[in-house]
Amino acid sequence: FDDSGWRQIDLPHDWAIELPTENIDEREFCEHGFRAIGPAHPQNSVGWYRRVFSLSPSPLPPSRSTRRGSEESRYVLEFDGAFREAIVWLNGHRLGRHESGYTPFRYDITDQLNYGDKVGEGENVIAVRVDATGYEGWWYEGAGINRHVWLLKTSPLHIAHDGVIVRSDVKGNRAVVTVRTTVVNDSDDAVDAQLSSTIFENPKKSAAKPQAEKKRIAPWSSAEIVQKFVVAKPKLWSPDAPDLYQLTQTLNTKNKTQDALNTTFGIRTIKWDAKRGVILNGQPIKIKGTCNHHQHAGVGTAVPDELQRWRLRKLKELGSNAYRCSHYMVPTETLDECDRLGLLVMAESRLADTSPQFLDDFKAMIRRDRNHPSIILWSIGNEEHTVQWSIAGERIGKTLRRVAHQLDPTRGVTCAMHDRGLGEGFANVVDVHGWNYIAVGDIEKYHQLKPNQPIVSSEEGSTVCTRGEYADDKERGYVSAYGLRAPKWGSLAEKWWPFVAERAWIAGGFVWTGFDYYGEPIPYKWPCTASHFGLMDLCGFPKDLYWYFKAWWGDEPVLHLLPHWNWNAGQTIDVWAFSNHDEVELLLNDESRGRQSVSRNGHVEWKVDFAPGELRAVGYRNGKRAQTTFISTTGDATKLNLATDRLRLRGTNDVACVSVSALDKQNRIHPNADHLINFTITGPGKIIGVGNGDPSSHEPDHGSQLLLFHGLAQVIIQSTGAGVIELCAAAENLAPAKIALRVAR
Ligand code: GAL
Repeated sequence: FDDSGWRQIDLPHDWAIELPTENIDEREFCEHGFRAIGPAHPQNSVGWYRRVFSLSPSPLPPSRSTRRGSEESRYVLEFDGAFREAIVWLNGHRLGRHESGYTPFRYDITDQLNYGDKVGEGENVIAVRVDATGYEGWWYEGAGINRHVWLLKTSPLHIAHDGVIVRSDVKGNRAVVTVRTTVVNDSDDAVDAQLSSTIFENPKKSAAKPQAEKKRIAPWSSAEIVQKFVVAKPKLWSPDAPDLYQLTQTLNTKNKTQDALNTTFGIRTIKWDAKRGVILNGQPIKIKGTCNHHQHAGVGTAVPDELQRWRLRKLKELGSNAYRCSHYMVPTETLDECDRLGLLVMAESRLADTSPQFLDDFKAMIRRDRNHPSIILWSIGNEEHTVQWSIAGERIGKTLRRVAHQLDPTRGVTCAMHDRGLGEGFANVVDVHGWNYIAVGDIEKYHQLKPNQPIVSSEEGSTVCTRGEYADDKERGYVSAYGLRAPKWGSLAEKWWPFVAERAWIAGGFVWTGFDYYGEPIPYKWPCTASHFGLMDLCGFPKDLYWYFKAWWGDEPVLHLLPHWNWNAGQTIDVWAFSNHDEVELLLNDESRGRQSVSRNGHVEWKVDFAPGELRAVGYRNGKRAQTTFISTTGDATKLNLATDRLRLRGTNDVACVSVSALDKQNRIHPNADHLINFTITGPGKIIGVGNGDPSSHEPDHGSQLLLFHGLAQVIIQSTGAGVIELCAAAENLAPAKIALRVAR
């Protein structure tokens, strides 16, 4: 097959984000972000990928390096995910078809591979057909191989895929860590295997006595080896102290290493209590979480690893301690970072059903992810209206719970439900009731009905805000950033958060959402193509409501004023402060406009006749000045500025989010600047996407130019090698800006 005319692409890849947004009047298009993909657009909905690679005879294991092919190594082709319906061929052999766009799949390709050193002898061709015609959700879902693909090579004797289970049992001042390892012998001979395992507290310090276990493993079979460790004075994992341990394992035969594997885990206890919520390491902890979709401006669903980590750091900075993987299995990299940062995770399966396919997807999630200390709940699904309340639903829920408990008896099972409050279907079988929205059903009544069932507010808010806009504008598709609107099932922040915060029996809540995402442009349709629910926009720029949650979730002093201060004389402006101080005084050009007490989980506001100058807020604690903040009327924008929190990158595929802003002479961001910016890049890096957070933007995500939206935009840079990347931004009537990023080898 002649593929010479094909484009070369890098993974992860999302071709949907390359399509223009179009005003197509169909409900599905609105929900999915107005890109022409789906049943009505076959020309855009199927993608083919090909990859040619050579394979020499394996040097592993060293003792048998002269032998070839399947006798000496096993090869597996592993997809972390592809959206969706992927059919995979290797050298013309059809390997299989995987429907879900969110779960991993893998094929042992040892038999089908071509091995050899001579030209042409060891050449292999992988072909993948990805079909995004069908939808799985009601948000922008992307299209393509949007997660990693791995070629794994192992000895015939190896540790099984997802074959290590680490569980800890904390008793007083020590933890007993039980490790179950499945060892596979894919060969014709019985093998005496020795599994050596060590637990490390840090790279140099082991935390328990190492264990070595021998087992004879029959040909073409597997066996489980159980090892127990005692960790004295374990450092317990929590959001405040996310201490991790590493299990290091080697699998040997006659002193030859056949396989080696590191598994990160944490030691902690988790219990659910119907009166006190979730109890972590013996202490109740209130969940302050966000729900999120896996996507970002500029790249769609092809989110590089470092960008996943960057997004999670933004959520942690917000003061959040929890993350809900709504509504599907997320990449491993997201969970690894939740472990490292200390974010409690509600892991969720795309669809609650027990047909083989959905059961397999559900099991795949638990098998892959059960060692992550961050995960505190398995969710069987979200708002499954057709079955959630039915008798069939109850049976399905029961089976899923049983399967979850078999694979992982350490965690509870939930479902995120739009509940009528009557305790039907799923509600009867889940360990923890996931309640979506207090405005739907009667949560108090339900709690009385089932006083022994723990409840978490699995989804809340859905408050709509557009960054930098302070009035609703249906034509342009913007909603006021004061946060005054939510759909009928949602609630404003100051309604739901105090409600949850004041009730110990609600374990806490997850805001819908941390970040905006494409699709679901509620309350509008075209020209709006993205959601307005995020506390941050599509690029991760905070909206004002972010500061409400930062004030009441975090420990840091917060004093945030809104809106901006560039108005016209004669306008009366509502000035709000989100703050956790006792009192806030507002001053316009040094003249007091009043000092007000801040009620817990509330905000303060004033009506102010606009006059140019400086609006200042002073926060008081215990009667003393604690913090001052101000916003000023800016002059015209005169120059551009580029900034990033990642000036130093490492190797290839590292990522930096560079924010672009337009400043006035005194270096203040102009709140309404909307200049067209052109980007140029030199050195070992490329622009993989641009965004500005405008939910009604129709500009391409893959491009080198973009309008500022309320003074800001974002460029996502990926490193391609070592050296210095230089990014320049230029616009008419503004002085250009440059930034240099150093990439180490
Ligand atoms: C919920 C749903 C979310 C999202 C949200 C918008 O009911 O679970 O996926 O659609 O509404 O408010």
